[in-house]
Amino acid sequence: MIYIKRKEHFCAAHKLWNDKWDAATNKRIFGKCSNENYHGHNFELEVTVRGEINPDTGFVMNLFDLKQIVREHVIDVVDHKNLNLDVPEFKDLNPTAENIVVVIYDKLKKVLDSNLDLEVTLYETVRNFVTYSGN
Ligand code: NI
Repeated sequence: MIYIKRKEHFCAAHKLWNDKWDAATNKRIFGKCSNENYHGHNFELEVTVRGEINPDTGFVMNLFDLKQIVREHVIDVVDHKNLNLDVPEFKDLNPTAENIVVVIYDKLKKVLDSNLDLEVTLYETVRNFVTYSGN
């Protein structure tokens, strides 16, 4: 099995908030990410596809195709957007790094060849990052 990887970058705003809690609790739990008027992050995305080498092409999958899929199904949807307001998946879902990575995974999994395994890593900051591979 071979792992091929594509890196992408996007900028997006969000606010982390739980309506069941008062403002002080939200501030304590979510810190700066609870800012009422949103705030931005420079997200780094790493998409890993695992599969066997196709003997005809020598590829697991064409990295150009992977680039196009990630751009169309993820970057165009989230880049320079307010995740809470502009991306329907986050209408009632807190856009934490964990939830964002699951949403991105689900979007990509739907359009990738079903015999390929997928893993997605999202960096919210240089030092904070999360990985999801479907279970
Ligand atoms: Ni934040």
